[in-house]
Amino acid sequence: MTDKIKEYIGEAQSFTTDNKETLEAFRIKFLGSKGLLKDLFAEFKNVPNDQKKEFGQVINLLKVTAEDKVKTIQEALESKEVAGGVYGDLTRPGEPLVVGSRHPISIVKNQIVDIFSNIGFNVSEGPEIEDDWHNFTALNLPEYHPARDMQDTFFIQSNPDVLLRTHTSSVQVRYMEENKPPIRTISPGRVFRNEAVSSRSHCIFHQVEGLYIDQNVSFADLKQTLLYFTKEMFGKSKIRLRPSYFPFTEPSAEVDIYWGLKTETDYRITKGTGWLEIMGCGMVDPNVLNNCGIDANKYNGFAFGMGIERIAMLLYQIGDIRMFYENDVRFLEQFKSSI
Ligand code: PHE
Repeated sequence: MTDKIKEYIGEAQSFTTDNKETLEAFRIKFLGSKGLLKDLFAEFKNVPNDQKKEFGQVINLLKVTAEDKVKTIQEALESKEVAGGVYGDLTRPGEPLVVGSRHPISIVKNQIVDIFSNIGFNVSEGPEIEDDWHNFTALNLPEYHPARDMQDTFFIQSNPDVLLRTHTSSVQVRYMEENKPPIRTISPGRVFRNEAVSSRSHCIFHQVEGLYIDQNVSFADLKQTLLYFTKEMFGKSKIRLRPSYFPFTEPSAEVDIYWGLKTETDYRITKGTGWLEIMGCGMVDPNVLNNCGIDANKYNGFAFGMGIERIAMLLYQIGDIRMFYENDVRFLEQFKSSI
């Protein structure tokens, strides 16, 4: 009889399951109201007196073993359930992360920066809130100069010396004040003009301006640099320079590229001419160099500036400049594949 019970003890000790029903069957078999232990305890009174002690010890051991077993497996199963509640199914495949996309303005800015850094230009940045000197006066635009009207300026109330920069030429002034020639730098950044908002212009936009100062810099160097840029940026190398006026450059020009007249859009964006204006440029006025502490008798150079929105609208065929600032995810998501 005790041998049989020892067998049961072995069975109870080696029992294992991760299933609630199997555990319950085990409990009923050993500890249930009609279970093995019940029968064995009932048997106790028939055991001869001299064996009662040993018999009592083994059935007690069986009882404790079975009870312990049920308890430990039950606890293990419960904690697994709790973990399942917190973490879900840990073997489930991960959910794909929603990856954002770069803003088209950033994409185009990065392209422009890359193109110029390949020919030795570095990137310089400056403050968006500027003083009169860096935005105007140093750039050959003294107070009351009529050309100040070309750039409708946002002044910070009550202090006419503090304004939102109207171009990133202000960064070039700062750069010249702090660095000696040779200078090759481009200044990307946000600029502000008090203009009526429409599909073609906005009061906030972005520019990249470039500055090249060295000895014996010629207008041909400027043209060659712009040719290189338009070829890299648009894959088009037919450009023309139209005489223009900027207070900080002399001579000054506006740069058009030949966009072509292949599609209806080409007709629309070039107003039927095939030519498209993309930037302003010129040879830096000697007054500007002197204002910034560079000897104009020794050094000269060229500068150029372009609007990023304009170029992005061309490249991505975007018809309304306001799209850039509306943060409409449906619009922005389209640029996901671009770097
Ligand atoms: N600063 C000019 C503008 O914002 C652009 C420009 C830069 C023109 C450099 C000529 C030379 O309109």
